[in-house]
Amino acid sequence: MQIIFDDYKSKIKGLVLVPVFEKGDICPFLKKEDTHGFISKAVKADKFEGKEGQICVVFLSDLRVVLFGAGNKSKVTKVSLQKLGGQLASIAKPLQKEKVYIALDSTGVEMPETEILAQVAFGFGLGAYSFDVYKQKKEDDIQISEVILLGKNPEEAQEQFEPLAAILDGVYETRDLVSEPSNMMTPSEFVDVAESIKIKNFDTDVVDVKQMKKLGMNLVLGVGQGSIHEPYLLVVKYMKGKKGAAPLLLVGKGVCFDSGGISLKPGKDMGDMKYDMAGAAAVLGTMISIAKMGLKTNVVAVMPLVENMPSGTALKPGDVVQSMSGKTVEILNTDAEGRLILGDAVWYGQEKFKPDTVIDMATLTGVMTYSLGTEYAGLFTDDEKLAKDLEQASQETVMDHLWRLPLHANYNKLINSDIADMANLASSPEAGSSTAAHFIGRFIQPGVKWAHLDIASKAWTKRDLPCSPKGATGFGVQLLTRYILNTRVS
Ligand code: BES
Ligand code: ZN
Ligand code: ZN
Repeated sequence: MQIIFDDYKSKIKGLVLVPVFEKGDICPFLKKEDTHGFISKAVKADKFEGKEGQICVVFLSDLRVVLFGAGNKSKVTKVSLQKLGGQLASIAKPLQKEKVYIALDSTGVEMPETEILAQVAFGFGLGAYSFDVYKQKKEDDIQISEVILLGKNPEEAQEQFEPLAAILDGVYETRDLVSEPSNMMTPSEFVDVAESIKIKNFDTDVVDVKQMKKLGMNLVLGVGQGSIHEPYLLVVKYMKGKKGAAPLLLVGKGVCFDSGGISLKPGKDMGDMKYDMAGAAAVLGTMISIAKMGLKTNVVAVMPLVENMPSGTALKPGDVVQSMSGKTVEILNTDAEGRLILGDAVWYGQEKFKPDTVIDMATLTGVMTYSLGTEYAGLFTDDEKLAKDLEQASQETVMDHLWRLPLHANYNKLINSDIADMANLASSPEAGSSTAAHFIGRFIQPGVKWAHLDIASKAWTKRDLPCSPKGATGFGVQLLTRYILNTRVS
Protein backbone atom coordinates (compact mmCIF):
# COMPACT_ATOMS: atom_id res chain seq x y z
CA MET A 1 0.00 0.00 0.00
CA GLN A 2 1.34 3.39 -0.98
CA ILE A 3 0.87 6.44 1.23
CA ILE A 4 0.73 9.65 -0.78
CA PHE A 5 0.17 13.33 0.01
CA ASP A 6 -1.58 15.57 -2.50
CA ASP A 7 -3.28 18.94 -2.70
CA TYR A 8 -6.93 19.71 -3.34
CA LYS A 9 -6.35 20.56 -6.97
CA SER A 10 -6.41 16.99 -8.23
CA LYS A 11 -9.80 15.57 -9.12
CA ILE A 12 -10.89 12.98 -6.61
CA LYS A 13 -13.27 10.11 -7.13
CA GLY A 14 -14.35 7.18 -5.02
CA LEU A 15 -13.99 6.78 -1.26
CA VAL A 16 -13.20 9.87 0.84
CA LEU A 17 -12.76 9.60 4.58
CA VAL A 18 -13.39 12.88 6.33
CA PRO A 19 -12.41 13.21 9.98
CA VAL A 20 -14.44 16.01 11.57
CA PHE A 21 -13.60 17.50 14.95
CA GLU A 22 -16.35 18.41 17.40
CA LYS A 23 -17.60 21.91 16.59
CA GLY A 24 -15.29 21.72 13.59
CA ASP A 25 -15.94 22.28 9.97
CA ILE A 26 -16.35 19.67 7.29
CA CYS A 27 -13.48 19.92 4.85
CA PRO A 28 -14.27 23.08 2.81
CA PHE A 29 -13.09 21.36 -0.33
CA LEU A 30 -15.91 18.84 -0.02
CA LYS A 31 -18.44 21.54 0.57
CA LYS A 32 -17.55 22.82 -2.88
CA GLU A 33 -18.28 19.40 -4.37
CA ASP A 34 -21.56 19.24 -2.50
CA THR A 35 -23.58 21.43 -4.83
CA HIS A 36 -26.93 20.10 -3.60
CA GLY A 37 -26.12 20.42 0.08
CA PHE A 38 -26.40 16.66 0.66
CA ILE A 39 -23.65 16.68 3.28
CA SER A 40 -25.28 19.27 5.52
CA LYS A 41 -28.63 17.49 5.17
CA ALA A 42 -27.11 14.14 6.15
CA VAL A 43 -25.22 15.72 9.06
CA LYS A 44 -28.45 17.18 10.36
CA ALA A 45 -30.45 13.99 9.87
CA ASP A 46 -27.83 11.81 11.56
CA LYS A 47 -27.18 14.35 14.33
CA PHE A 48 -23.51 14.08 13.40
CA GLU A 49 -21.48 16.34 15.71
CA GLY A 50 -17.95 15.00 15.28
CA LYS A 51 -18.06 13.10 18.59
CA GLU A 52 -15.31 10.50 18.68
CA GLY A 53 -16.25 7.46 16.61
CA GLN A 54 -19.48 8.90 15.13
CA ILE A 55 -20.02 7.98 11.50
CA CYS A 56 -22.14 9.57 8.77
CA VAL A 57 -22.12 8.32 5.18
CA VAL A 58 -23.06 10.55 2.24
CA PHE A 59 -23.17 9.73 -1.46
CA LEU A 60 -22.32 12.55 -3.84
CA SER A 61 -22.17 11.91 -7.58
CA ASP A 62 -18.60 10.57 -7.91
CA LEU A 63 -17.86 10.38 -4.24
CA ARG A 64 -18.69 8.15 -1.36
CA VAL A 65 -18.05 10.33 1.67
CA VAL A 66 -17.61 8.89 5.16
CA LEU A 67 -17.60 11.55 7.86
CA PHE A 68 -15.88 10.31 10.99
CA GLY A 69 -16.05 11.94 14.41
CA ALA A 70 -12.54 12.90 15.48
CA GLY A 71 -13.50 14.21 18.94
CA ASN A 72 -12.38 17.28 20.82
CA LYS A 73 -9.82 19.31 18.91
CA SER A 74 -8.20 20.69 22.07
CA LYS A 75 -7.29 17.15 23.10
CA VAL A 76 -5.45 16.29 19.91
CA THR A 77 -1.98 14.76 20.32
CA LYS A 78 0.33 12.93 17.94
CA VAL A 79 -0.78 9.64 19.49
CA SER A 80 -4.50 10.49 19.22
CA LEU A 81 -4.00 11.31 15.54
CA GLN A 82 -2.30 7.95 14.99
CA LYS A 83 -5.27 6.26 16.62
CA LEU A 84 -7.59 8.26 14.36
CA GLY A 85 -5.59 7.06 11.34
CA GLY A 86 -5.94 3.48 12.55
CA GLN A 87 -9.70 3.90 12.99
CA LEU A 88 -9.96 5.25 9.44
CA ALA A 89 -8.09 2.19 8.18
CA SER A 90 -10.54 -0.16 9.88
CA ILE A 91 -13.44 1.70 8.25
CA ALA A 92 -11.80 1.67 4.83
CA LYS A 93 -10.68 -1.97 4.74
CA PRO A 94 -14.11 -3.65 4.47
CA LEU A 95 -15.27 -1.06 1.92
CA GLN A 96 -12.89 -2.67 -0.59
CA LYS A 97 -11.69 0.30 -2.59
CA GLU A 98 -8.28 0.46 -4.20
CA LYS A 99 -7.92 4.19 -3.66
CA VAL A 100 -8.81 5.91 -0.41
CA TYR A 101 -8.70 9.67 0.13
CA ILE A 102 -8.48 11.38 3.48
CA ALA A 103 -9.58 15.02 3.73
CA LEU A 104 -9.77 16.93 6.97
CA ASP A 105 -10.14 20.46 8.17
CA SER A 106 -7.72 21.11 11.01
CA THR A 107 -8.61 24.71 11.75
CA GLY A 108 -8.27 25.32 15.47
CA VAL A 109 -6.05 22.31 16.15
CA GLU A 110 -2.77 23.39 17.69
CA MET A 111 -0.48 21.53 15.34
CA PRO A 112 0.63 22.27 11.80
CA GLU A 113 -1.56 20.58 9.20
CA THR A 114 1.47 18.80 7.71
CA GLU A 115 2.25 17.15 11.05
CA ILE A 116 -1.40 16.19 11.52
CA LEU A 117 -1.50 14.51 8.12
CA ALA A 118 1.79 12.70 8.70
CA GLN A 119 0.56 11.28 12.04
CA VAL A 120 -2.82 10.24 10.58
CA ALA A 121 -1.00 8.59 7.68
CA PHE A 122 1.23 6.68 10.10
CA GLY A 123 -1.77 5.42 12.08
CA PHE A 124 -3.54 4.46 8.86
CA GLY A 125 -0.48 2.48 7.82
CA LEU A 126 -0.39 0.68 11.18
CA GLY A 127 -4.09 -0.18 10.97
CA ALA A 128 -4.14 -1.20 7.31
CA TYR A 129 -1.67 -4.07 7.75
CA SER A 130 -2.77 -7.53 6.72
CA PHE A 131 -0.98 -10.85 6.36
CA ASP A 132 -2.52 -12.95 3.65
CA VAL A 133 0.37 -14.66 1.87
CA TYR A 134 -1.17 -18.08 2.45
CA LYS A 135 -4.65 -17.22 1.16
CA GLN A 136 -5.49 -17.77 -2.46
CA LYS A 137 -6.37 -14.48 -4.10
CA LYS A 138 -10.08 -14.11 -4.83
CA GLU A 139 -10.88 -11.95 -7.82
CA ASP A 140 -13.48 -9.88 -6.05
CA ASP A 141 -11.24 -9.23 -3.05
CA ILE A 142 -9.97 -5.67 -3.41
CA GLN A 143 -7.19 -4.35 -1.20
CA ILE A 144 -6.30 -0.71 -0.61
CA SER A 145 -3.37 0.06 -2.87
CA GLU A 146 -3.18 3.82 -2.36
CA VAL A 147 -4.15 6.14 0.44
CA ILE A 148 -3.99 9.79 -0.48
CA LEU A 149 -3.98 12.45 2.23
CA LEU A 150 -5.16 15.82 0.98
CA GLY A 151 -3.70 19.04 2.31
CA LYS A 152 -2.43 22.48 1.48
CA ASN A 153 1.25 21.59 1.54
CA PRO A 154 1.75 17.98 0.39
CA GLU A 155 5.55 18.19 -0.09
CA GLU A 156 6.07 19.30 3.48
CA ALA A 157 3.68 16.64 4.80
CA GLN A 158 5.61 14.03 2.83
CA GLU A 159 8.84 15.24 4.43
CA GLN A 160 7.30 15.05 7.92
CA PHE A 161 6.15 11.55 7.13
CA GLU A 162 9.58 10.26 6.04
CA PRO A 163 10.83 9.13 9.51
CA LEU A 164 7.42 7.66 10.33
CA ALA A 165 7.54 5.69 7.07
CA ALA A 166 10.83 4.20 8.27
CA ILE A 167 9.18 3.10 11.53
CA LEU A 168 6.26 1.69 9.56
CA ASP A 169 8.67 -0.40 7.47
CA GLY A 170 10.20 -1.76 10.68
CA VAL A 171 6.78 -2.60 12.14
CA TYR A 172 5.63 -4.30 8.92
CA GLU A 173 8.77 -6.44 8.71
CA THR A 174 8.35 -7.46 12.35
CA ARG A 175 4.68 -8.34 11.86
CA ASP A 176 5.51 -10.34 8.73
CA LEU A 177 8.18 -12.34 10.55
CA VAL A 178 5.97 -13.01 13.56
CA SER A 179 2.93 -13.96 11.45
CA GLU A 180 4.81 -16.62 9.50
CA PRO A 181 4.16 -20.17 10.70
CA SER A 182 7.13 -21.97 12.22
CA ASN A 183 7.46 -24.45 9.35
CA MET A 184 8.33 -21.43 7.22
CA MET A 185 10.09 -19.18 9.70
CA THR A 186 12.84 -21.47 10.94
CA PRO A 187 16.01 -20.05 12.52
CA SER A 188 17.89 -20.28 9.22
CA GLU A 189 15.02 -18.62 7.33
CA PHE A 190 15.04 -15.75 9.86
CA VAL A 191 18.75 -15.31 9.19
CA ASP A 192 18.13 -15.35 5.42
CA VAL A 193 15.49 -12.63 5.75
CA ALA A 194 17.88 -10.44 7.76
CA GLU A 195 20.72 -11.02 5.31
CA SER A 196 18.54 -10.05 2.37
CA ILE A 197 17.85 -6.61 3.86
CA LYS A 198 19.89 -4.03 2.00
CA ILE A 199 20.02 -0.72 3.84
CA LYS A 200 23.08 1.49 4.24
CA ASN A 201 25.08 0.74 7.41
CA PHE A 202 22.88 -2.26 8.29
CA ASP A 203 25.50 -5.01 8.70
CA THR A 204 24.68 -8.60 9.52
CA ASP A 205 26.86 -11.32 11.02
CA VAL A 206 25.94 -14.88 11.92
CA VAL A 207 27.30 -17.21 14.59
CA ASP A 208 26.61 -20.82 13.60
CA VAL A 209 26.69 -24.06 15.62
CA LYS A 210 30.38 -24.65 14.99
CA GLN A 211 31.32 -21.19 16.27
CA MET A 212 28.88 -21.48 19.18
CA LYS A 213 30.62 -24.69 20.26
CA LYS A 214 33.96 -22.88 20.24
CA LEU A 215 32.50 -20.01 22.25
CA GLY A 216 30.89 -22.38 24.77
CA MET A 217 27.41 -21.02 24.06
CA ASN A 218 25.85 -24.13 25.55
CA LEU A 219 22.58 -22.54 26.66
CA VAL A 220 21.63 -21.68 23.08
CA LEU A 221 23.01 -25.02 21.84
CA GLY A 222 21.18 -26.87 24.61
CA VAL A 223 17.76 -25.40 23.79
CA GLY A 224 18.33 -26.04 20.08
CA GLN A 225 19.64 -29.60 20.40
CA GLY A 226 16.20 -31.25 20.27
CA SER A 227 15.30 -29.79 16.88
CA ILE A 228 16.28 -30.74 13.35
CA HIS A 229 16.62 -27.01 12.66
CA GLU A 230 20.01 -25.75 13.81
CA PRO A 231 20.18 -22.68 16.02
CA TYR A 232 21.89 -19.44 14.97
CA LEU A 233 22.89 -16.28 16.68
CA LEU A 234 22.15 -13.37 14.38
CA VAL A 235 23.95 -10.05 14.87
CA VAL A 236 22.99 -6.77 13.23
CA LYS A 237 25.34 -3.83 13.64
CA TYR A 238 24.49 -0.23 12.96
CA MET A 239 27.44 1.98 13.90
CA LYS A 240 26.76 5.42 12.49
CA GLY A 241 27.25 7.26 15.75
CA LYS A 242 30.43 8.68 17.30
CA LYS A 243 33.48 6.52 16.58
CA GLY A 244 34.42 4.49 19.63
CA ALA A 245 31.27 5.42 21.60
CA ALA A 246 29.80 2.43 23.45
CA PRO A 247 26.75 1.10 21.62
CA LEU A 248 23.31 0.24 22.87
CA LEU A 249 22.81 -3.53 22.80
CA LEU A 250 19.38 -4.87 21.91
CA VAL A 251 18.73 -8.56 22.49
CA GLY A 252 15.58 -10.34 21.31
CA LYS A 253 14.26 -13.79 22.15
CA GLY A 254 14.02 -15.78 18.94
CA VAL A 255 12.32 -19.08 19.70
CA CYS A 256 10.85 -19.88 16.29
CA PHE A 257 8.64 -22.49 17.90
CA ASP A 258 8.30 -23.27 21.60
CA SER A 259 6.75 -26.70 22.14
CA GLY A 260 8.08 -26.64 25.69
CA GLY A 261 10.61 -29.35 24.84
CA ILE A 262 10.55 -32.44 27.08
CA SER A 263 8.45 -30.35 29.52
CA LEU A 264 5.89 -30.37 26.71
CA LYS A 265 3.22 -27.69 26.69
CA PRO A 266 -0.45 -28.70 26.64
CA GLY A 267 -1.95 -28.91 23.14
CA LYS A 268 -4.43 -26.08 23.54
CA ASP A 269 -3.05 -22.91 21.95
CA MET A 270 0.35 -24.48 21.38
CA GLY A 271 0.25 -23.11 17.85
CA ASP A 272 0.53 -19.63 19.34
CA MET A 273 4.11 -20.44 20.11
CA LYS A 274 5.13 -19.61 16.57
CA TYR A 275 5.23 -16.04 17.86
CA ASP A 276 7.82 -16.83 20.51
CA MET A 277 10.36 -15.11 18.29
CA ALA A 278 8.56 -11.76 18.49
CA GLY A 279 11.34 -10.24 20.61
CA ALA A 280 13.94 -11.02 17.96
CA ALA A 281 11.62 -9.82 15.20
CA ALA A 282 11.00 -6.51 16.99
CA VAL A 283 14.69 -5.96 17.56
CA LEU A 284 15.31 -6.57 13.85
CA GLY A 285 12.42 -4.23 12.97
CA THR A 286 13.96 -1.53 15.16
CA MET A 287 17.30 -1.89 13.35
CA ILE A 288 15.47 -1.46 10.03
CA SER A 289 13.74 1.69 11.29
CA ILE A 290 16.86 3.39 12.61
CA ALA A 291 18.94 2.41 9.58
CA LYS A 292 16.29 3.73 7.19
CA MET A 293 16.23 6.99 9.15
CA GLY A 294 20.02 7.14 8.99
CA LEU A 295 20.26 8.07 12.69
CA LYS A 296 23.64 9.05 14.09
CA THR A 297 23.86 6.38 16.73
CA ASN A 298 25.60 3.10 17.59
CA VAL A 299 23.27 0.15 18.13
CA VAL A 300 23.97 -3.58 17.97
CA ALA A 301 21.25 -6.22 17.95
CA VAL A 302 21.79 -9.83 18.98
CA MET A 303 19.11 -12.41 18.24
CA PRO A 304 19.47 -16.01 19.40
CA LEU A 305 17.30 -18.12 17.08
CA VAL A 306 16.27 -21.65 18.05
CA GLU A 307 13.43 -24.13 17.93
CA ASN A 308 12.51 -25.74 21.27
CA MET A 309 11.46 -29.34 20.55
CA PRO A 310 11.21 -32.64 22.40
CA SER A 311 13.27 -35.50 20.96
CA GLY A 312 15.88 -38.10 21.88
CA THR A 313 18.54 -35.43 21.68
CA ALA A 314 16.63 -32.74 23.59
CA LEU A 315 17.65 -31.22 26.93
CA LYS A 316 16.02 -32.99 29.87
CA PRO A 317 14.81 -31.69 33.22
CA GLY A 318 17.63 -32.21 35.71
CA ASP A 319 20.42 -31.62 33.18
CA VAL A 320 23.17 -29.17 34.05
CA VAL A 321 24.62 -26.94 31.34
CA GLN A 322 27.52 -24.51 31.44
CA SER A 323 26.81 -21.13 29.85
CA MET A 324 29.23 -19.04 27.80
CA SER A 325 29.81 -16.89 30.91
CA GLY A 326 31.07 -19.97 32.76
CA LYS A 327 28.07 -20.01 35.12
CA THR A 328 26.31 -23.35 35.33
CA VAL A 329 22.55 -23.79 35.06
CA GLU A 330 20.34 -26.59 36.31
CA ILE A 331 17.51 -27.13 33.84
CA LEU A 332 14.41 -27.82 35.90
CA ASN A 333 11.91 -27.15 33.15
CA THR A 334 12.76 -27.19 29.45
CA ASP A 335 9.83 -24.85 28.78
CA ALA A 336 11.70 -22.04 30.55
CA GLU A 337 13.99 -21.86 27.50
CA GLY A 338 13.80 -18.15 26.70
CA ARG A 339 15.90 -17.09 29.68
CA LEU A 340 18.51 -19.71 28.73
CA ILE A 341 19.14 -18.42 25.22
CA LEU A 342 19.01 -14.82 26.45
CA GLY A 343 21.63 -15.56 29.13
CA ASP A 344 24.15 -16.57 26.48
CA ALA A 345 23.06 -13.86 24.05
CA VAL A 346 23.42 -10.92 26.46
CA TRP A 347 26.79 -12.31 27.60
CA TYR A 348 28.05 -12.66 24.02
CA GLY A 349 26.83 -9.14 23.17
CA GLN A 350 28.58 -7.60 26.18
CA GLU A 351 31.87 -9.46 25.61
CA LYS A 352 32.00 -8.61 21.96
CA PHE A 353 30.55 -5.09 21.74
CA LYS A 354 31.11 -3.56 25.22
CA PRO A 355 27.75 -1.73 25.33
CA ASP A 356 26.88 0.77 28.07
CA THR A 357 23.23 -0.34 28.04
CA VAL A 358 21.47 -3.61 27.31
CA ILE A 359 17.76 -3.87 26.57
CA ASP A 360 16.33 -7.31 26.04
CA MET A 361 12.88 -8.03 24.74
CA ALA A 362 11.19 -11.41 25.08
CA THR A 363 7.90 -13.28 25.12
CA LEU A 364 9.22 -14.73 28.36
CA THR A 365 6.39 -15.62 30.74
CA GLY A 366 2.77 -16.52 30.06
CA VAL A 367 1.74 -15.05 33.43
CA MET A 368 2.19 -11.54 32.04
CA THR A 369 -1.38 -11.90 30.79
CA TYR A 370 -2.51 -12.32 34.41
CA SER A 371 -0.43 -9.51 35.88
CA LEU A 372 -0.78 -6.77 33.27
CA GLY A 373 -3.33 -8.08 30.78
CA THR A 374 -2.97 -6.91 27.22
CA GLU A 375 -2.51 -3.19 27.86
CA TYR A 376 1.10 -3.22 29.02
CA ALA A 377 4.35 -5.10 28.62
CA GLY A 378 6.40 -5.56 31.78
CA LEU A 379 9.43 -3.36 32.32
CA PHE A 380 12.12 -4.62 34.70
CA THR A 381 15.14 -2.50 35.55
CA ASP A 382 17.08 -1.17 38.52
CA ASP A 383 18.19 1.90 36.61
CA GLU A 384 15.89 4.87 37.30
CA LYS A 385 17.01 6.89 34.28
CA LEU A 386 16.60 3.95 31.91
CA ALA A 387 13.14 3.29 33.36
CA LYS A 388 12.15 6.93 32.91
CA ASP A 389 13.46 7.10 29.34
CA LEU A 390 11.73 3.90 28.31
CA GLU A 391 8.47 4.97 29.94
CA GLN A 392 8.68 8.34 28.20
CA ALA A 393 9.24 6.66 24.81
CA SER A 394 6.39 4.27 25.54
CA GLN A 395 3.98 7.15 26.15
CA GLU A 396 4.84 8.58 22.76
CA THR A 397 3.51 5.45 21.06
CA VAL A 398 -0.05 4.42 20.38
CA MET A 399 0.19 0.97 21.92
CA ASP A 400 3.74 0.04 22.94
CA HIS A 401 2.91 0.70 26.57
CA LEU A 402 4.99 -0.34 29.57
CA TRP A 403 4.36 -0.91 33.24
CA ARG A 404 7.28 -1.25 35.62
CA LEU A 405 7.45 -4.41 37.75
CA PRO A 406 9.86 -5.15 40.60
CA LEU A 407 13.26 -6.82 40.69
CA HIS A 408 13.48 -7.69 44.39
CA ALA A 409 16.64 -9.31 45.80
CA ASN A 410 14.50 -11.98 47.47
CA TYR A 411 13.03 -12.96 44.11
CA ASN A 412 16.57 -13.40 42.83
CA LYS A 413 17.29 -15.93 45.60
CA LEU A 414 14.43 -18.11 44.32
CA ILE A 415 16.49 -19.19 41.30
CA ASN A 416 19.40 -20.55 43.36
CA SER A 417 20.10 -24.23 42.68
CA ASP A 418 21.34 -27.05 44.92
CA ILE A 419 23.60 -28.43 42.25
CA ALA A 420 24.54 -25.53 39.93
CA ASP A 421 25.07 -21.75 40.03
CA MET A 422 21.39 -21.21 39.26
CA ALA A 423 18.24 -22.98 38.11
CA ASN A 424 16.06 -22.04 35.18
CA LEU A 425 12.92 -22.42 37.26
CA ALA A 426 12.27 -20.74 40.59
CA SER A 427 11.73 -22.84 43.70
CA SER A 428 8.35 -21.13 44.10
CA PRO A 429 5.93 -19.94 41.40
CA GLU A 430 5.53 -16.51 43.05
CA ALA A 431 6.54 -13.46 40.98
CA GLY A 432 7.30 -15.69 38.00
CA SER A 433 7.99 -12.84 35.60
CA SER A 434 10.42 -11.25 38.07
CA THR A 435 12.35 -14.47 38.71
CA ALA A 436 12.63 -14.96 34.94
CA ALA A 437 13.98 -11.40 34.64
CA HIS A 438 16.48 -12.03 37.44
CA PHE A 439 17.79 -15.05 35.58
CA ILE A 440 18.79 -12.79 32.66
CA GLY A 441 20.07 -10.19 35.13
CA ARG A 442 22.63 -12.68 36.40
CA PHE A 443 24.35 -12.47 33.01
CA ILE A 444 24.63 -8.68 33.01
CA GLN A 445 28.15 -7.43 33.72
CA PRO A 446 28.92 -4.88 36.46
CA GLY A 447 28.46 -1.26 35.37
CA VAL A 448 26.25 -2.11 32.39
CA LYS A 449 22.74 -0.62 32.54
CA TRP A 450 20.05 -3.14 31.76
CA ALA A 451 16.31 -3.32 31.18
CA HIS A 452 14.21 -6.37 30.40
CA LEU A 453 10.89 -6.11 28.58
CA ASP A 454 8.51 -9.07 28.90
CA ILE A 455 6.23 -8.78 25.88
CA ALA A 456 4.43 -12.14 26.23
CA SER A 457 1.00 -10.52 26.36
CA LYS A 458 1.68 -7.78 23.82
CA ALA A 459 3.35 -9.45 20.84
CA TRP A 460 0.07 -10.83 19.51
CA THR A 461 -3.48 -9.52 19.67
CA LYS A 462 -6.51 -11.79 19.54
CA ARG A 463 -8.79 -8.87 18.64
CA ASP A 464 -8.63 -6.09 16.11
CA LEU A 465 -7.21 -2.88 17.59
CA PRO A 466 -7.26 0.50 15.81
CA CYS A 467 -3.56 0.45 14.99
CA SER A 468 -3.04 -3.30 15.04
CA PRO A 469 -5.34 -5.76 13.33
CA LYS A 470 -5.71 -9.23 14.86
CA GLY A 471 -2.37 -11.04 14.91
CA ALA A 472 1.21 -9.84 15.24
CA THR A 473 1.40 -6.34 16.73
CA GLY A 474 5.03 -5.48 16.02
CA PHE A 475 5.30 -4.44 19.66
CA GLY A 476 8.61 -2.83 20.51
CA VAL A 477 9.62 -1.30 17.19
CA GLN A 478 7.97 2.04 17.85
CA LEU A 479 9.03 1.97 21.50
CA LEU A 480 12.72 1.23 20.90
CA THR A 481 12.98 3.55 17.90
CA ARG A 482 11.48 6.40 19.98
CA TYR A 483 13.81 5.57 22.86
CA ILE A 484 16.84 5.70 20.53
CA LEU A 485 15.62 8.91 18.89
CA ASN A 486 15.07 10.58 22.27
CA THR A 487 18.21 9.51 24.07
CA ARG A 488 20.92 8.05 21.88
CA VAL A 489 21.33 10.21 18.81
CA SER A 490 24.45 12.40 18.68
N1 BES B 1 7.20 -18.75 25.46
C1 BES B 1 6.73 -19.03 26.75
C2 BES B 1 5.96 -17.88 27.39
C3 BES B 1 4.71 -17.45 26.68
C4 BES B 1 3.49 -18.06 26.99
C5 BES B 1 4.72 -16.42 25.79
C6 BES B 1 2.34 -17.64 26.36
C7 BES B 1 3.55 -16.00 25.17
C8 BES B 1 2.36 -16.61 25.46
C9 BES B 1 7.91 -19.37 27.67
O1 BES B 1 8.98 -19.96 27.07
C10 BES B 1 7.38 -20.31 28.70
O2 BES B 1 6.99 -21.37 28.33
N2 BES B 1 7.38 -19.90 29.94
C11 BES B 1 6.87 -20.69 30.98
C12 BES B 1 7.75 -20.48 32.18
C13 BES B 1 7.56 -21.50 33.25
C14 BES B 1 8.01 -22.86 32.77
C15 BES B 1 8.35 -21.05 34.44
C16 BES B 1 5.43 -20.25 31.26
O3 BES B 1 5.12 -19.09 31.06
O4 BES B 1 4.62 -21.09 31.60
ZN1 ZN C 1 8.77 -22.10 26.93
ZN1 ZN D 1 9.23 -19.53 25.03
